[in-house]
Amino acid sequence: MECCRGLRRPPAFALSYALLAPNPHNRQPWLIDLEKDNQFALYRDETRDLPHTDPYHRQIFIGLGCFLELMSIAATLRNKTAKIELFPEIPDDAVARVQLAEGGDVDPLADHILARRSCKEPFLDKPVPKDMAIALGGYGTVFTEDKEVDRIRALTWEAWLTEMHTHRTLKESVDLMRFGKTEINADPDGIDLGGPFLESLMLAGILTRENQLDPRTTGFQEGIKLYREMLSATPAYIALTTAENNRQDQIDAGRRWLRLNLETTRLGLALHPVSQALQEFDEMEPHYHRAHELLANPGETVQMLGRLGYGPETPPTPRWPLATRIMNE
Ligand SMILES: Cc1cc2nc3c(=O)[nH]c(=O)nc-3n(C[C@H](O)[C@H](O)[C@H](O)COP(=O)(O)O)c2cc1C
Repeated sequence: MECCRGLRRPPAFALSYALLAPNPHNRQPWLIDLEKDNQFALYRDETRDLPHTDPYHRQIFIGLGCFLELMSIAATLRNKTAKIELFPEIPDDAVARVQLAEGGDVDPLADHILARRSCKEPFLDKPVPKDMAIALGGYGTVFTEDKEVDRIRALTWEAWLTEMHTHRTLKESVDLMRFGKTEINADPDGIDLGGPFLESLMLAGILTRENQLDPRTTGFQEGIKLYREMLSATPAYIALTTAENNRQDQIDAGRRWLRLNLETTRLGLALHPVSQALQEFDEMEPHYHRAHELLANPGETVQMLGRLGYGPETPPTPRWPLATRIMNE
């Protein structure tokens, strides 16, 4: 009966939603210390960093921002208000301390938590309606004009090819691929390759870990073709920028991205982060520079770039259960 005491504490409700937050490569870099009945500390699990594609952990902190915002929205379903202190003095390695206070109204975006996705599919050849583009302008800069969309599309494609043809960054992703149901269930994180279509390619030997690392193979080339089609089928983009680029800015960008993703869900729109051009490794530098030219004012940092449009419904991605993310369970 001693087991899972923490899961009966009030924060567990909000945390069980928070772990559905979008996060880079689905690494789920969160660890929780349940300090008191209505209080917990959030830590970054450094074993889940992405040293090659995210050497300064910028994307990981954006994911932690998504987690905090989702937790805070979910808490309102129990009429609680999350009071978040970022980077408290004690302990000095915590990302945040959160207290759940009584009171507050339900956040209307809470209705869309379970349907939210990062939609990694081709979008319909259908424009994003003007009124929606204007409404989403409150979260970031929306790009819908043909010329600018073409330029951003070319950038995302070239940047993606650069990540694919840089062995160490490609390998970082391939190492995180989970091939089929058994691997996904054993490690419910990373890049889940499941479902009947991909599993039959695995059985036929076309989709394997080895050929995903070798650009000369048919399996690799098929993957490139699929990704090219997906990236091309994009009618609009949205970019989130910040004036500075400190940890607080990164957390704030994540909180904004999460709200944007719930809002697009509410509007029936699909959203898909495409982060390659924003990655900070040497080979990506020309695309990083171009991304900032196209998407930001001088001096700003582009924190997120997303494809925006109408996409198909997609299944949820896997998650580690809450009990495995609680340090003192
Ligand atoms: C900071 C950040 C960067 C991301 N970059 C990409 C990306 O470049 N390509 C991509 O397909 N998904 C990207 N994602 C989406 C994650 O892969 C996705 O959130 C994760 O797999 C969980 O899936 P879900 O959002 O559908 O729940 C990113 C998410 C975050 C928060």
